[in-house]
Amino acid sequence: MSDITFIVFGATGHLARTKLIPAIARTVGAKDIRDFAFIGVGSSPRSDDVLRTKVGDALADADVASDLRDRVLAAPIRYVSASIDGFDDLEHTVDQVEREAGLSGNRLIYLAVPPSQLDATVRGISSTTVAKSDGWVRLVVEKPFGVDLATARHSNAIIHETFDESQVYRIDHFLGKETVRNLLVFRFTNSLFEQTWNRNHIASVEITVAEESGVDGRAGYFDESGTVRDMVQNHLTQILTLIAMEPPVKMDAASIHQEKVKVLNSARPITSDDAILGQYGAAVIDGEQVVGYRDEPGVSDESTTPTFAAVRVSIDNWRWNGVPFYLRTGKRMSARMSQIAVRYHRPPVCLFHAEGECEGHQNILKLRLQPDEGFELFFDVKQPGPGTEIGRIPLAVRYDDLVNEAPDAYETLLTDVVEGDQTLFVRSDEVEAAWELYAPLLDRTDIHTYPAGTDGPEHADDLLVGFDTWSNVRRTFSR
Ligand SMILES: NC(=O)c1ccc[n+]([C@@H]2O[C@H](COP(=O)([O-])OP(=O)(O)OC[C@H]3O[C@@H](n4cnc5c(N)ncnc54)[C@H](OP(=O)(O)O)[C@@H]3O)[C@@H](O)[C@H]2O)c1
Repeated sequence: MSDITFIVFGATGHLARTKLIPAIARTVGAKDIRDFAFIGVGSSPRSDDVLRTKVGDALADADVASDLRDRVLAAPIRYVSASIDGFDDLEHTVDQVEREAGLSGNRLIYLAVPPSQLDATVRGISSTTVAKSDGWVRLVVEKPFGVDLATARHSNAIIHETFDESQVYRIDHFLGKETVRNLLVFRFTNSLFEQTWNRNHIASVEITVAEESGVDGRAGYFDESGTVRDMVQNHLTQILTLIAMEPPVKMDAASIHQEKVKVLNSARPITSDDAILGQYGAAVIDGEQVVGYRDEPGVSDESTTPTFAAVRVSIDNWRWNGVPFYLRTGKRMSARMSQIAVRYHRPPVCLFHAEGECEGHQNILKLRLQPDEGFELFFDVKQPGPGTEIGRIPLAVRYDDLVNEAPDAYETLLTDVVEGDQTLFVRSDEVEAAWELYAPLLDRTDIHTYPAGTDGPEHADDLLVGFDTWSNVRRTFSR
């Protein structure tokens, strides 16, 4: 594998410490990259040694193998502060490090800076020769990409002044999760599902990302974004497009992006009836008092930022017409759980009854992202013994049973960047189409309060009216 210069903006931040630095080390190990350098950029002045210590701490915290840790710490590690002269310093440092280490100028530039700093950072890079090299140059951009359609368009325009779209990797780490990567294989290699993956057989699709935690000290960031911007527009929508897209002509990035954009362009405009937004209030959870969102440090006591969203998306195309896609996500829910539930129609006639009720259930395919990545297919069988009592059993696969340890999503995606594979990244028109879809929800102030530690506002069940296919959040969580 050729050599790489990793240039990480936000190298001293939370993401770098918990995910990015360990992922870089593991990618270096997995791809056997012998020659590399790590140049970290932050907003404050620091020495190279401070950054080296932070890198060492991040690798130790992530239990990176000691030989790999030593290899990373033996590589050139340099720190640059993004001050007024920061970008001149950066240019000088990159040139110097590559010359001294004999690197050929393959540059992986990772932007893990606060969203408000994105445009200025790209402009700063563009003012230097950092993006011009004899080797390849790839730009990875963290989510959220913009705060609405206008800002996303603006950031795309600034990026495209210097970088071709083929160099840009808009990252959404959900796309690096095994279950999500598996979606394409699952759908397009199993004829059982290929033939039934449409409105004739599927009644509804639910995508749920529930967090038990609150804002976890990130109130400043979260209060400006809220759950529609932070979760729905990116993570949940990316999953939706992979579930709903048509088979691509080829398994390459361009063909897949093409199909994903078509899904977003087929989505019916969202109206106020299609979404319920909520905000957690105070509650006692496991005997401990938990403050409401507006009482979190750093949050205004009049904040209307949603911490919960339930959204119904309708895809008006031949495959999905009439099949609701329900997206649900929230903080301070009763459990931490991310899953996709694909509900099949019941058979046309029910033949098995108990006490006047139909005993049959819908078949449900559940793809679980966390905890316990894997999938389950639920179907009805006769309980052994006399009579015809019907039981519901899952065919289940846990990834932990298949591999010792599935790679972290960041490691998977970073490897794709190193290999120049854009398949699991978000193209500029995709990100813009997603912002356009959710525009009606971005400024909504009708927010329903729900007690922390529950399953969201009771009101969320109102979305179900007219559909017998939605199981409410409570039932889904406990199943
Ligand atoms: N944390 C996560 O788990 C997570 C998950 C998904 C996405 N993200 C995204 O990743 C990005 C970073 O998040 P974070 O949690 O790591 O934030 P953070 O802990 O606040 O760290 C921000 C980092 O950016 C640096 N920085 C700030 N302004 C800069 C500038 N103008 N030029 C260069 N560096 C600058 C900071 O340097 P100083 O230390 O010197 O201030 C720090 O290293 C955000 O876009 C966030 O949405 C984070």
